[in-house]
Amino acid sequence: MSETSFTPRVFSGIQPTGNLHLGNYLGALKRFVDWQDKDAETIYCMVDLHAITASFQEPQALMRSTRELCAGFIAAGLDPEQSILINQSQVPEHAQLAWIFNCVARMGWMQRMTQWKDKAGKNQQNASLGLFAYPALMAADILVYHATHVPVGEDQKQHLELTRDIATKFNHDYGVDFFPITEPVIEGAATRVMSLRDGSKKMSKSDASDASRINMTDDADTIAKKIRKAKTDPEALPSESKGLEERPEARNLVNIYAALMDQSVDKVLADVGGKQFSEFKPMLAELAVEKLAPISSEMSRLMDDQSEIDKILTRGSERARAITAPILRQTYDIIGMVPPVEV
Ligand code: AMP
Ligand code: TRP
Repeated sequence: MSETSFTPRVFSGIQPTGNLHLGNYLGALKRFVDWQDKDAETIYCMVDLHAITASFQEPQALMRSTRELCAGFIAAGLDPEQSILINQSQVPEHAQLAWIFNCVARMGWMQRMTQWKDKAGKNQQNASLGLFAYPALMAADILVYHATHVPVGEDQKQHLELTRDIATKFNHDYGVDFFPITEPVIEGAATRVMSLRDGSKKMSKSDASDASRINMTDDADTIAKKIRKAKTDPEALPSESKGLEERPEARNLVNIYAALMDQSVDKVLADVGGKQFSEFKPMLAELAVEKLAPISSEMSRLMDDQSEIDKILTRGSERARAITAPILRQTYDIIGMVPPVEV
């Protein structure tokens, strides 16, 4: 464990690959806003360098998704004055530190990553080197700010453990106490929102079925229709969470409801236990529309003025670099490299 005490600083990122969905919102974005409102120093990133690791992205589409994600951040309640909002490629220290971490991380560590195994599939030989190195770039995103807390959904837990391993090995190899051992923050009722069509699969941007997810850009009718059609079982809702154990689809809808209400699952079940889905689904649809529709309309309003979004991101990058440039310089110094020249 690190002896040095680091100033609390929160960092997290989302890939601009389109289809920002309810899982991203409840697992990540909504919690980014909670941290901002606690008055922590918060830095949130559109990770476009990560977005090109898995498959080819059309340049126009990537740029649009990056701006749309930034609009989503702001529409969900992030204030560009209070939080630093950045686009990863505009802050070059992320990629520079990632190279160093490529030389700290071991092949064996990367090979164990379940996301690598899932995304590379059977044909690993044809996956990009960037996909393999993805977690080292993610560690650099976090550690180039000396971030101490990282709010994410459950699927990122393993990557955050690797971030701790990289920091520990770097500190040990160079005999320093330079990088913090970051805390993953995986909290709340909806750290793993599941597909509306299959309770064993996580809700994901890349699911071929649009009915499997609620997109942040869906209108009220679409949201209500997707919830109405969500897969469930024939039983009534239980009054205690134990009763959801073998019922993944029911559990998912209750978790979503609890997270949208900012209530515990137990509290929700105390209120809705005994109801049939025919009664519960309209309640959930109404709640989801109430919470999501304003975000979606604010997103499209913000997308009407893209130059304003670009300005916010440029300003964010300037503020970010005031933090990252000194940390990169110190890293180079520790390693025995000459700091990058100033231009
Ligand atoms: P990604 O879309 O993969 O860039 O994910 C961005 C953030 O959303 C990360 O913190 C993920 O853990 C979180 N996330 C993605 N999908 C889900 C989901 N189905 N449930 C909860 N959190 C999620
Ligand atoms: N890998 C994360 C995801 O897909 C996105 C990400 C990149 C991230 N860098 C990060 C999340 C740093 C938290 C901190 O969900």
